[in-house]
Amino acid sequence: MSEAVRIALISGSLRADSGSTALLRTVAEVVEPEVVTARVYFGMGALPHFNPDDDFEPLDPAVAELRGLIAGADALLFSTPEYAGGLPGSFKNLLDWSVGGNEIVDKPTAWLNPAAPGRAEGAYAALRVVLGYTGARVVEEACVRLPVRRDAIDTEAGTVADPRVREGLRDAVAALVAAVKAERPAADPSAAGNPW
Ligand SMILES: Cc1cc2nc3c(=O)[nH]c(=O)nc-3n(C[C@H](O)[C@H](O)[C@H](O)COP(=O)(O)O)c2cc1C
Repeated sequence: MSEAVRIALISGSLRADSGSTALLRTVAEVVEPEVVTARVYFGMGALPHFNPDDDFEPLDPAVAELRGLIAGADALLFSTPEYAGGLPGSFKNLLDWSVGGNEIVDKPTAWLNPAAPGRAEGAYAALRVVLGYTGARVVEEACVRLPVRRDAIDTEAGTVADPRVREGLRDAVAALVAAVKAERPAADPSAAGNPW
């Protein structure tokens, strides 16, 4: 199995030309494949509404896919917009589904905030609180604000070309990778059946 650190990239936006998703797509573009295997998750829109009554085997396939992704990842990287002062409902729904399986517990986790300074404060404060409840381990050094202007998004590729943003992404990923490697012997989920 490859020594590359597996990072699941999860956007809180369903919008096709989302700045949050563009940042995460750009992460997948800037990482060195020998160091990081980055996988952008596009299944959020297929998740059912969270209902504890449905949190049993056999799980909805979209939920099983999400939990498999999280279980197989060494680390998680989120990026989300703010809606009405908080997290988008679909994203909170995803986070609620991440609780029951426990795959997220102790998982090194960080976020990339694409909003301009002073914006989206409520969403990222809420994300911190929710991740606290899920048991994810927030890697503070990897949590960064990297404002993305709409006109900086290459709509064809869905990525960000701005070299300062790309440098910021590399630094954030390096901090996340360092956190994973610091604890790797205990946390490495390499095992037969890992979908990564
Ligand atoms: C319904 C709605 C509510 C919004 N509420 C907020 C808000 O409370 N605070 C904020 O900073 N931006 C707010 N915005 C702006 C979005 O966060 C902004 O458009 C962001 O770029 C969307 O992220 P995305 O490009 O990743 O989809 C709102 C946008 C919409 C559509």
